[in-house]
Amino acid sequence: IANRKLLLLPGDGIGPEVMAEARRVIDWLARSGRARFELAEDLVGGASIEATGKPITEPVIERALEADAVLFGAVGGPQWDSQPFDNRPEIAILELRKRLGLFANLRPAPVFDALIDASPLKPEIVRGLDIMIVRESTGGIYFGEPRGIETLPDGTKRGINTEVYTTPEIERVARVAFELARKRQGRLTSVEKANVMESGLLWRQTVTALGAAEYPDVQLSHMYADNCAMQLAKNPRQFDVIVTGNLFGDLLSDLASMLTGSLGMLPSATLGAPDAAGRRHALYEPIHGSAPDIAGKGLANPLAQILSLAMLLRYSFDMQEDAAAIEAAVSNVLASGMRTADIEQKGTARIGTRTMGDAVLRELDKLGG
Ligand code: NAD
Ligand code: IPM
Ligand code: MN
Repeated sequence: IANRKLLLLPGDGIGPEVMAEARRVIDWLARSGRARFELAEDLVGGASIEATGKPITEPVIERALEADAVLFGAVGGPQWDSQPFDNRPEIAILELRKRLGLFANLRPAPVFDALIDASPLKPEIVRGLDIMIVRESTGGIYFGEPRGIETLPDGTKRGINTEVYTTPEIERVARVAFELARKRQGRLTSVEKANVMESGLLWRQTVTALGAAEYPDVQLSHMYADNCAMQLAKNPRQFDVIVTGNLFGDLLSDLASMLTGSLGMLPSATLGAPDAAGRRHALYEPIHGSAPDIAGKGLANPLAQILSLAMLLRYSFDMQEDAAAIEAAVSNVLASGMRTADIEQKGTARIGTRTMGDAVLRELDKLGG
């Protein structure tokens, strides 16, 4: 098998702290003879601004384009709040999504049994929950034109962003969601605001037509985004796969994270379209950010980053067994009562980032190193 090229982009804040733990799992994969990766590491976000003046540089984008997969940490922090808007650390992730064509952001929200009581929702509401949010990630209001802040002749200022979706953009992300639904419980909920936005109306019409033409076996329903937020809190188990635009997907996935206990638990995969040889660009990252409030203290939960690595093995290298081993190790660690502060409950042991990484490695060794 050809050498698998992995690019690690730890970023800022807790990014490097949680990446260090994922890196130890990568080392374990090599040590146990499961998989060897050709590893490279680069700067993004504020770290890149400090070194180069820019949140991401062209050579880093080139390396990401050449890699088989990218593992991303998190970017941003109050130190860089005074940067010009188009030079903020967050540009790094937006630029990577855009340049690599990563239009489908898969954000699974499974509930680990051991964490049922860590959710602020009642156990009977979240038990057995397993939602997959497919968030469009290279379009919508994040990228639509016109945008900017302009000053009118009378001195009034106007901030502008534009929500735009074309049929091909909607179809390709909806296809990813329909395919996933087919392999899961066969249900897809498409979310927009077709009642107030034309882009939402086009979204609904396009998904409906695609479903009728190509996925009659998938049970498709539609929901307005505001109602979806409410339904996620009220009865989240009604959902199997959700497909939605860039901004609604961002909001709804942070909401969904609390069903599972913590933002520090949820991984994501952002995928591009396969080329003729079946290769596609892919980036894996936790859905959380750089958590400036706990950065540098060794308190961050590294499990979202470690689970992002499991997704990477699953989606980019078809290493199902190794991905399952990592997920099982995480599940066992949680079952044993180990908790970082974000998922702490009565009677569990509060530990830091490194100790959580140690515990995962111990479980991996038990599962067969
Ligand atoms: P955040 O996700 O960084 O933090 C929100 C809250 O969740 C904080 O209280 C934080 O301590 C907690 N949290 C997040 N991850 C955690 C973990 N692994 N373990 C324990 N607790 C965790 O969101 P924010 O505070 O709104 O944003 C901070 C910075 O991160 C901003 O600059 C923002 O733009 C950036 N951000 C980056 C990404 C990314 O790189 N993909 C994603 C979201 C936010
Ligand atoms: C995320 C983040 C990013 C987004 C920011 C940092 C650009 O919130 O990955 O969820 O809004 O997409
Ligand atoms: Mn977000």
